[in-house]
Amino acid sequence: MGRRADRQNKPGERDMEEKDILILAIESSCDETAAAVVRNGREALSNVIASQIALHTQFGGVVPEIASRKHIEQINQVITGALTEAGVSLSDITAIGVTYGPGLVGALLVGVAAAKAIAYAAKKPLIGVHHIEGHVAANFITSYPGQLSGRSAPASAKPKLEPPFVCLIVSGGHTHLVIVKDYGEFEIIGRTRDDAAGEAFDKVARAVGLGYPGGPKVDQAARDGNPHAIKFPRAKVEGAPYDFSFSGLKSAVLNHINHAKMTGEAIHVPDLAASFQKAVVEALVNRAILAAKEYGYDKLAIAGGVASNSALRAAMIEACEKNHLYFYYPAPILCTDNAAMIGAAAYYEYQKGIRHGWDLNAVPNLKLGER
Ligand code: KG4
Ligand code: ZN
Repeated sequence: MGRRADRQNKPGERDMEEKDILILAIESSCDETAAAVVRNGREALSNVIASQIALHTQFGGVVPEIASRKHIEQINQVITGALTEAGVSLSDITAIGVTYGPGLVGALLVGVAAAKAIAYAAKKPLIGVHHIEGHVAANFITSYPGQLSGRSAPASAKPKLEPPFVCLIVSGGHTHLVIVKDYGEFEIIGRTRDDAAGEAFDKVARAVGLGYPGGPKVDQAARDGNPHAIKFPRAKVEGAPYDFSFSGLKSAVLNHINHAKMTGEAIHVPDLAASFQKAVVEALVNRAILAAKEYGYDKLAIAGGVASNSALRAAMIEACEKNHLYFYYPAPILCTDNAAMIGAAAYYEYQKGIRHGWDLNAVPNLKLGER
């Protein structure tokens, strides 16, 4: 309705509708310290991410103790940055959303403590968000500052994604195929039996000396490689058509490397990267398409860090077109860890009346759908 008449905008401040719901969201579950302001669950007014990747690279992976310390150092300026970038002040914010699990306990605690302190001091409702629910909700953000205003989906997709739909969640710690029945309501129909997809990328990258984090490095190297150069196995889980298994593939890659070392053959990293990536992408795409068709949904979305993989996105677009499915994917920056996705998920939790108390704690192994 009407613009707020009771206050004058300061320079750089945004006009807000009175009915707008603004979530200040905080994410610190792993190695990114992030804060964002999200309007009405769909529009990221800001999305500030302080990445610690460079710090952990020298150790070949995330060191939990270092991650927690770095979060403490960064969190206040990241939150202030998110408010400033959005052109709002704390008094404009409707509620505070924060990731409280799953993740590294010491890392999660930093975000949860910051969110509780702000919510308490500013008398705002507090909403704890499941990290993976956040990844899925990245698909709801149709407007993003800078690069991607408007849509995060190809022309063939309906502009605004709403449940129900099938979602393939592929991150460093999770590989799940779910039916998103409603906002925040999931039915898990498939999961990995061993490594997560991102974990497989990271391990293979380490084995060929590409460094951490492996996913983007493999993605990059694969662009110059032949995906048919090496035949790697495609594992199926007996009696579970929607489950994944990547440990056999990972072992096959390691065997290939060892064999080459023993026989003195050179390893062609781009070919290996492309062949490995093709095996992962095929497993992901085939099961996701099968799920959408068998369960009778016409919308398919992807989420999580691996969803930014260029080969996966290309293969999904092609398969969805062939199978007459609408395909949704977040902007790459919204696939990897960020707080805008937490703000989008928190908005729908808020609409449902979910509020957490001051006893909200980090839950490192929080299950999807638990509140
Ligand atoms: O979702 P995310 O940022 O953190 C977790 O919640 O785990 O996912 C991180 C994972 C890492 O394993 C990383 O290697 C992988 O996502 N990843 C990628 C790409 N970008 C990130 N994997 C494949 N291709 C990419 N372009
Ligand atoms: Zn994540």
